[in-house]
Amino acid sequence: MDRSELARAKRSHALKRKVDRELIAGSLAHYEDPAYYTSTYRRRIDDVQFYVSLATKNGGEMLEYGVGNGRIALPIARHGVRVTGIDHSATMLRDLRARIEDEPAAVARRITLHRGDMRTKRLGKKFSLVICSFNTALHLYTRADVEKFLACVRSHLSPRGRFVVDLSVPAIDDLTRDPKKAYTAPKFKHPSAGMVRYTEHFDYDSVRQVLFVSMEFHPIDRKIPTFSTPLAHRQFYPREWEALLHYNGFAVDRVDGDFHGGPLTNKSDVMVWHAKLRSGWR
Ligand SMILES: C[S@@+](CC[C@H](N)C(=O)[O-])C[C@H]1O[C@@H](n2cnc3c(N)ncnc32)[C@H](O)[C@@H]1O
Repeated sequence: MDRSELARAKRSHALKRKVDRELIAGSLAHYEDPAYYTSTYRRRIDDVQFYVSLATKNGGEMLEYGVGNGRIALPIARHGVRVTGIDHSATMLRDLRARIEDEPAAVARRITLHRGDMRTKRLGKKFSLVICSFNTALHLYTRADVEKFLACVRSHLSPRGRFVVDLSVPAIDDLTRDPKKAYTAPKFKHPSAGMVRYTEHFDYDSVRQVLFVSMEFHPIDRKIPTFSTPLAHRQFYPREWEALLHYNGFAVDRVDGDFHGGPLTNKSDVMVWHAKLRSGWR
């Protein structure tokens, strides 16, 4: 290898490390502040009711990928269903464990947690229902990520089990925003920073199909410097996700456009996929 080849190899290695770092940060940072997470999504209840109803109808023990701090798993356990949760965020799992301590012993006993990566964690156990809730799958950035994840789901799904996953539909308005512009949202009270002015920058990489969002918090009444949190979300188009399920051993039973069983239309902002193992798949 001559000098210029070596320099090129070093540059490409450095670039790959930068790319990996921004994706790793974009899949972890938003989950480093569970109090903020809980307060931000406290009004998001349609998906919780949907998954509780799915879990109670299923009855048997279920697995949730991206269990987080239990926004969905805790209500399911309170409804009498045993839930196993996988998440790679130590911070979210710590918060969930603290919340479980405040629950009655019967509820606490129904929840089992594992820290691990959804692309690799194998529990050696089958479930009749596996869910991957609230955009957790948008942290699968490459085809290899998706394939590894779906292989794990297959290993955890009983032969007649159901796999349910909800994802945002790519929103053209978000993908076409000017990356240099700060988009302002209403002020609000942050759990630790007090009143903040809130801005967001959106930067869509149309080759990797990853939307990078920078959430910026500008404290108003406390002497705290502005801080920001990165979030990286892979954008899956409906037909692309359908193909990924199909070519990785799943048959789609149904796809809905909301959490009430409505159809997926051009106006839907969420897609809820119900799939099962494809018979005859190698
Ligand atoms: C949007 S949160 C959903 C949390 C919870 N299910 C809810 O609905 O509030 C996504 C979760 O996925 C987890 N996550 C992201 N990438 C992951 C990975 N590669 N393996 C395991 N968990 C991951 C995050 O730590 C986070 O808790």
